[in-house]
Amino acid sequence: MKMLQDSMADAAEAVQDTLDNLLELGGDPEDRVVEAMRYACLGGGKRIRPFMVLTTADMFGVDREAALRCAAAMEMVHCYSLVHDDLPAMDDDDLRRGKATCHKEFDEATAILAGDGLLTKAFEVLAHNDTHGDARVRADLVLALAQAAGNRGMIGGQMLDIVAENTELNMPEITRMQRMKTGMLISVACEMGAILGKVHPSLRHALLAYANDLGLAFQIADDLLDVEGSSSAVGKKTGKDAAAGKATFISLVGVKRARNQAEILSDQAISHLEVFADKADLLRQLARFVVERDN
Ligand code: IPE
Ligand code: IPE
Ligand code: MG
Ligand code: MG
Ligand code: MG
Repeated sequence: MKMLQDSMADAAEAVQDTLDNLLELGGDPEDRVVEAMRYACLGGGKRIRPFMVLTTADMFGVDREAALRCAAAMEMVHCYSLVHDDLPAMDDDDLRRGKATCHKEFDEATAILAGDGLLTKAFEVLAHNDTHGDARVRADLVLALAQAAGNRGMIGGQMLDIVAENTELNMPEITRMQRMKTGMLISVACEMGAILGKVHPSLRHALLAYANDLGLAFQIADDLLDVEGSSSAVGKKTGKDAAAGKATFISLVGVKRARNQAEILSDQAISHLEVFADKADLLRQLARFVVERDN
């Protein structure tokens, strides 16, 4: 059986190379924004979302080059979300992936533009002929990523996260916020391989069901790390959610029940993979990793 750690390391290296090629410096006066985009994307992060793209693409025999371009686009949107999430107007963080946040390394205006640049670049990459010969597939990729990143997805979730600083949320409300803020990008990461492979909708739905549970487990684990993790291991400042009055599973039910919930969700995620038999072994290992991780 292929082991998760090796596969994740291979994926991270391949994605790094693809991002490096796609985010090319042009020797132009505006290169500063490309430097900031590269700073935000290259060298760091667990690369979980691109790993999901590559793994699901492999399950359906998708061309490696196509999968890598989608994986890179996915990571660009994720990195953009981190750059903006860290801005003073949002979470106001100085540390990300063990180094200075983009606005600290550059400046706020450049960080805003770098985020915008990454978001836009991701769609340029997906829409390009090199990503898939079939225009219908490219349109499907663009549509899925736009929906996941937009106001009904990550952006909507980020808005709820801010609104919730001054409001008590109940369990269904927190679940909805987490699902949008984090879950939707994880869902589309698991869907891209199926879109590229033009697989039967039932398989796409099975992957989405997996991703739905996993995305929630992932954000609970992130919130647990904010409470229990060390800043040096996590690569970002910890203890920030409680200080900012963020609504999380932990603020509602405490550490123990939140951890329990994450484990239940991880089991539940795995139960949706039966139809793929041993083809989904890496996804099963990933579901465990997501809740056991220490960074
Ligand atoms: C952090 O995501 C932001 C959340 C959505 C919780 P990751 O934990 O995947 O961050 P990196 O990419 O590994 O830095
Ligand atoms: C951010 O959630 C989710 C995004 C959409 C970027 P957090 O604010 O908890 O992420 P971290 O802890 O800063 O990585
Ligand atoms: Mg945030
Ligand atoms: Mg944050
Ligand atoms: Mg967090």
